[in-house]
Amino acid sequence: MLPIVQIVHREGIIDLGWGHPDPDLLPVEALRRAANAALARYGAAALAYGAERGPGPLLEWICGRLAQTDARPPDPAEALVLAGASQALDLLCTLVTRPGDIVLVESPTYHLAVRILRDHPLELVPTPVDAGGLDVDALAALLGRLARDGKRPRMLYFVPTYHNPTGVCMDLPRRQALAGLAAEAGLLLVEDDVYRELSHDVPAPPSVWSIARPGVVARIGSFSKSLAPGLRLGYLTADAALTSRIIGGGMLDSGGGVNPLVALTVAELCAAGDFEAIVMRLRAAYRERRDALASGLRQHLPPGCRFTVPRGGFFQWVELPDALDAADLLPRAEAAGVSYIPGARFHLAAARPGALRLSFSLYPPALLAEAAHRLGQAIGAALQ
Ligand SMILES: Cc1ncc(COP(=O)(O)O)c(C=O)c1O
Repeated sequence: MLPIVQIVHREGIIDLGWGHPDPDLLPVEALRRAANAALARYGAAALAYGAERGPGPLLEWICGRLAQTDARPPDPAEALVLAGASQALDLLCTLVTRPGDIVLVESPTYHLAVRILRDHPLELVPTPVDAGGLDVDALAALLGRLARDGKRPRMLYFVPTYHNPTGVCMDLPRRQALAGLAAEAGLLLVEDDVYRELSHDVPAPPSVWSIARPGVVARIGSFSKSLAPGLRLGYLTADAALTSRIIGGGMLDSGGGVNPLVALTVAELCAAGDFEAIVMRLRAAYRERRDALASGLRQHLPPGCRFTVPRGGFFQWVELPDALDAADLLPRAEAAGVSYIPGARFHLAAARPGALRLSFSLYPPALLAEAAHRLGQAIGAALQ
């Protein structure tokens, strides 16, 4: 049979390479109820080409939710429903950049966003990340160097909240400094905010979008992490000029708003109060999984391995002892029954090879503990 899902399971391997949710955490029943409710309430309108900006009930809910989870809500002219963060990034590239433009990308960063950027004829330039997230001083220096060469980057892609792959969350002063620098430089920040709802301990800090001057940031959000990736549903908040530009683009003019039936289904799920309950459950589940993995790593990783436990999201970044290369270690780890993504995959340019990304989203706590055990054994053997 031809496949239905993207993920491929390998016998005997706990594969912490996949940043996918556990199927057991997907809200099948709530979505079934919501789909019925959407069809009952909207009938044929749910099956028509949708309003370009996305259906009103969902847009209003998104604005209301951000009033609670962010420093300021968008007004409806500043928000737009899209088919997930991936489509939002692709559309921004299509409509905001011109061939040959420089786009800055934090490094390391979400490797599949880089794939989307590379689908466009852009010059990608890495800007460094440190233990606190995107390094704003290094960015200022880079902008200065580019300016001296007569170059002005068009936009910068980054993940400030529960970063993929490092798990780091940028603090508020750094967010403010970045917003100020981008405003001065006329640089559009593309803030990937897909993990905002998945804080494990304390709520996420305000988005850079919410504290920056209007027009400086386009923030992309998603229901992939808070509800289900198969919905292919997300949103963008930006100044009204940019959202209008996207609505006026060929894609939405031709097809109307994205996924109207799914968007109305999600609106019904949210109106029923299920979103809040689902997200509370996810936070608790991911906190437990993060803790199971972290305690397994503490117990089983040999001395010289370093990691900082994330406060949200899906990912644990691990630095190996200097002698080890994560790509070279991978076959040995897989032979021991565990897999991961080597850290170099998340860098635009050559990087220190001794880091790796573990995702704790897909497996229950007991398997994460076992994965840590297997990884510790593989690293221990490689060090001998
Ligand atoms: C940082 C980041 N952005 C975007 C995505 C994909 O988002 P979407 O499913 O909304 O396209 C992911 C999924 O792993 C991610 O980690």
